[in-house]
Amino acid sequence: MKKLDNIGGEFESSYNTSSKKLLKKFNNGTWFTCGRHALNEIFIHINKQQVKNIYIPIYTCKSIELILRKFEFKVFYYDIDHNFKNKLKKIKKNSAVLLMNYFGIKENFKLNNNDCKPIIINDLSHSFLQEKLSFKKDEFYFFSLRKFGVFNYGGWCNISNTKNRIYDTRNISTFSQKIRKIKQKYLNTNSQPSLIKEKKILKIFKEFDQKLYDLKHPIKKNNLKIIQKIDIKKSFKIRRDNFNYLKNKLPKRYTLNFKLNAHDIPLGFFLFLKNRNQLRNNLNLNRIFCPIHWDISTQFQSKKNFSSLLSKQILTIPIDQRYDQTHLDKIIININQFLNKPFKK
Ligand SMILES: Cc1ncc(COP(=O)(O)O)c(C=O)c1O
Repeated sequence: MKKLDNIGGEFESSYNTSSKKLLKKFNNGTWFTCGRHALNEIFIHINKQQVKNIYIPIYTCKSIELILRKFEFKVFYYDIDHNFKNKLKKIKKNSAVLLMNYFGIKENFKLNNNDCKPIIINDLSHSFLQEKLSFKKDEFYFFSLRKFGVFNYGGWCNISNTKNRIYDTRNISTFSQKIRKIKQKYLNTNSQPSLIKEKKILKIFKEFDQKLYDLKHPIKKNNLKIIQKIDIKKSFKIRRDNFNYLKNKLPKRYTLNFKLNAHDIPLGFFLFLKNRNQLRNNLNLNRIFCPIHWDISTQFQSKKNFSSLLSKQILTIPIDQRYDQTHLDKIIININQFLNKPFKK
């Protein structure tokens, strides 16, 4: 590891391809530039099916909200428990329920027995890589491709009657590569983080995000061909090994009760602690950049729901294919220093 190596942050636009076509199970359906468009397509579809109410987890990302606002569903928010299971009880008639598998580890996909048989929408953004994934005929599925570093953009849903519209990604590729270069240059040349420069970079990333959402001109099957050939299998083992390494080395009282099943491909490792923000700032200073899943909207920030507590206290530690034991030891040393714990090899 070089002295100035960073841990975390956006993925580069590089990828390996494989003949195995691991994403081929998503051939039937429609590809978009991002997950938001895929969810939008599902909402258009269920809107035509008399759906009036929609149940959304409090604990989810804000971009879901952006799409919801375009429709006139009556929205009910639901909480999850410490095992990330939904606390849904009674569901009204003519409803749809959005469920998700958190971090590729914690399933939220089972509903209690329910007379009203809601329409189920599964957000697979954290679990589309799972090898055992199976689809039910009458349920909807979608995901954002970019969470696992498979690719910098892309989204899919299992509705295929949109004439397989694929949105052009050429401009996006160029823009995406450009902003990653700017960020890399900043990170490699500044030994001390600069808040002003970081704000500028975040602004460019936001613009990129908006561009993904705004882009709406169809073409380019070639991009889909690339996506389908991406070799994602290599990363599976690394993610699992890195996850288990951190689980064994970090103090148990801060690590939540996460256990990997044989088919799980974890998105990250998680810490759960009151002074999360201080730890995050501290890690930033040491060039370890950890995302927060997620800052939920202020209307839900209450002591009564677990989602709110999670949002305030969870920190996602990067464990992806870019990192080996040297990186992980650096993470552990820094976290232990913050927690006043000795580092054990
Ligand atoms: C769980 C989840 N679902 C869907 C989305 C939307 O995906 P995209 O950003 O590709 O539009 C996100 C985005 O952050 C997400 O975290």
